[in-house]
Amino acid sequence: MAKHYHIEAQAGDIAELVLLPGDPKRAEYIATHYLEDAKLYNTVRGMSGFTGTYQGKRVSVQGTGMGMPSAGIYIHELINVYGAKKLVRIGSCGSLQEKVGLRDIILAMSACTNSAMVPRRFFHQTYAPTANFDLLYQAYNIARDKGVSVHVGSLLSSDHFYDDTGEDVFRWAEYGVLAVEMEAAELFTVAAKYGVQALAICTVSDSLVTGDETSSEDRETSFTQMMEIALELA
Ligand code: HPA
Repeated sequence: MAKHYHIEAQAGDIAELVLLPGDPKRAEYIATHYLEDAKLYNTVRGMSGFTGTYQGKRVSVQGTGMGMPSAGIYIHELINVYGAKKLVRIGSCGSLQEKVGLRDIILAMSACTNSAMVPRRFFHQTYAPTANFDLLYQAYNIARDKGVSVHVGSLLSSDHFYDDTGEDVFRWAEYGVLAVEMEAAELFTVAAKYGVQALAICTVSDSLVTGDETSSEDRETSFTQMMEIALELA
């Protein structure tokens, strides 16, 4: 086995489909509420990972922490040490568009980034981190069958949550970017490198357009819809 410092699971402990919330407590919540026979396979750094079954299919759910440096470590190990084949980020994002409201669900087709992580792999030229079409198409159809309307388009994966750079984030919005989050671009890039499938599904927790934020009750409902889409990818 390659060296692996951040996930302590045994070979075979992790499913081919791995859902990736940022928050390890979220991973635990998903395992407890949605998976049968869920087993905790990782406790290193408190970054919980569980494998169980959903409607008879094996699924894992692994916390990634916030931001691309943290998420990138788990994504790398899941793919290269544990053989993950389908990696689906499930998270929240901040809307950059009037038409993208609180609680809406976004299926990310692509992810722009202001991070150095992606460009530095390409000698500072511009790579286009892109979701896997099969996963995107499947997720879109699952949402449609459930009557859940979704936005499909680009995210901005930012390095800063508290951004005091003075850069105008709405520049991205002018070019159609739907919302900002902090992980998708690195997920899509690493998955592409190793020839596996990746997608990001995000619910809108706040709007940079209006300054509004969801209540915890709101977050629960949109979270449930997002989860059901993600789990049915199994
Ligand atoms: N910025 C970055 N990430 C986020 C945000 C945001 O406004 N909202 C939820 N995730």
